[in-house]
Amino acid sequence: MNNAEFREWAHRLADHMADYYNNIETYPVKSNVKPGEILAQLPKAPPAGSEDMSQIMSDFERIIMPGITHWQSPNFFAYFPANGSYPSILAEMLTASLGAQCMVWDTSPAAAELEELVMNWLKAMTGLPDDWHGVIQDTASTSTLVSILCAREKYANYSINETGFKDTNKLRVYCSAEAHSSVEKAVKIAGIGRKNLVKIATDIQYRMNSVLLRKAIANDIAAGLTPLCVVAALGTTGCTSVDPLNEIASVCAEFNIWLHVDAAYAGTALLLPEYRWMIEGIEKADSFVFNPHKWMFTNFDCSAYFVKDKEILIRTFEILPEYLKTGNRGLVNDYRDWGIQLGRRFRALKLWFVIRSFGVTQLQEMIREHIRIARWLEQQVIAHPDFETLAPVPLSLVCFRYKPSDIAGTENLNRVNEELLGKLNATGRIFLTHTKLNGQYTLRMSVAGTQTTHQHVEQAWEFIKETALGCTRL
Ligand SMILES: Cc1ncc(COP(=O)(O)O)c(C=O)c1O
Repeated sequence: MNNAEFREWAHRLADHMADYYNNIETYPVKSNVKPGEILAQLPKAPPAGSEDMSQIMSDFERIIMPGITHWQSPNFFAYFPANGSYPSILAEMLTASLGAQCMVWDTSPAAAELEELVMNWLKAMTGLPDDWHGVIQDTASTSTLVSILCAREKYANYSINETGFKDTNKLRVYCSAEAHSSVEKAVKIAGIGRKNLVKIATDIQYRMNSVLLRKAIANDIAAGLTPLCVVAALGTTGCTSVDPLNEIASVCAEFNIWLHVDAAYAGTALLLPEYRWMIEGIEKADSFVFNPHKWMFTNFDCSAYFVKDKEILIRTFEILPEYLKTGNRGLVNDYRDWGIQLGRRFRALKLWFVIRSFGVTQLQEMIREHIRIARWLEQQVIAHPDFETLAPVPLSLVCFRYKPSDIAGTENLNRVNEELLGKLNATGRIFLTHTKLNGQYTLRMSVAGTQTTHQHVEQAWEFIKETALGCTRL
């Protein structure tokens, strides 16, 4: 492809992308292809010669698009969102064009300095402590792993990095029973072992019980074990419960334990001053993560990670081969030392575009509107005799189930709700996912799409009620 052809295709794809967003509601939200269906349509061997771009695009439309789930559809209510937005997409286009690999300051000074700036902006926007330091990681899973590794090295005076483990099976990590599975993955990878992850029971609102946390830590110390790290969740994946940070932070301070705060989805709500109660006590914590790629309209991947003491982070991850030595070391931020990967994309650009193009006020209005719509939906569910909510709605996720008077017992209700979810998603009109709360099959409706309006949620609610009537009665 030469430059003229690139120009032509770039123009055509710009139209294609704009058309996609205009027509996004005409696609089935969830792809319903069968396993292997896409692969079976593709040639097993790569082409020996060059293929024409028109042919590649035509195959993209014919073969690939049917296997896409449309995360940017306003009728996508599944999981948590992976929001994009127009300014963010434009920045990604530029990032791809520049193709800069931003591992150290010298490999693109603007990327490093813009990252420093936007992370400082995010601190100010969310009310995080002014003297903390931010860096963009790929995901919240990586950020949590980074924290657990920092906690491990701080405890071991950086000796595990040097000589490996001596006293395995002694270190303990704590989170609530509702915490994200990435905590479990992190303790596996960090060499601490899944058996040393202690899951603390929650209260009736699915929040970590800090009294039980304290007890578990004290018991472990009495048994000769070493409490290393607590991961508190603000906005759990199942039902967006918010762990009592201040109480947990006091326990961690008492025992000198690293406290990491996982606010992957809910952190965006901190843009609203009325949600700052969630981070009361944050100054006693050690690290914090939230994903602008979830609710802050910034394309995946973009995880905002903050630490109180950047020296611990850098000492845990720095490595200095000859070819990476630069004359500016110590004067600038070389972000390759602030996490696991060496090579880094220029992700700060899309955050800069998003924050500038929307402005803080509009970002706040959009988040408030999602929360308002979710509360409206909660009220509809509560007012309906055949439905019930299964958890409080502190943010913009509504957890509910169908509970008609002619179906009783957890097993039957679980069955009918599973059937209802299957029916809804098979239509392609909307896409919801589920969780289990207290053994109850729960429909999760996450109201946080960039293009999602009150009307979309109202239509979805009508459709859910109508579909529920067609579910099997025993
Ligand atoms: C509370 C919480 N933590 C962590 C994650 C993992 O996020 P990521 O995909 O960025 O690793 C999720 C994903 O939904 C989450 O809800």
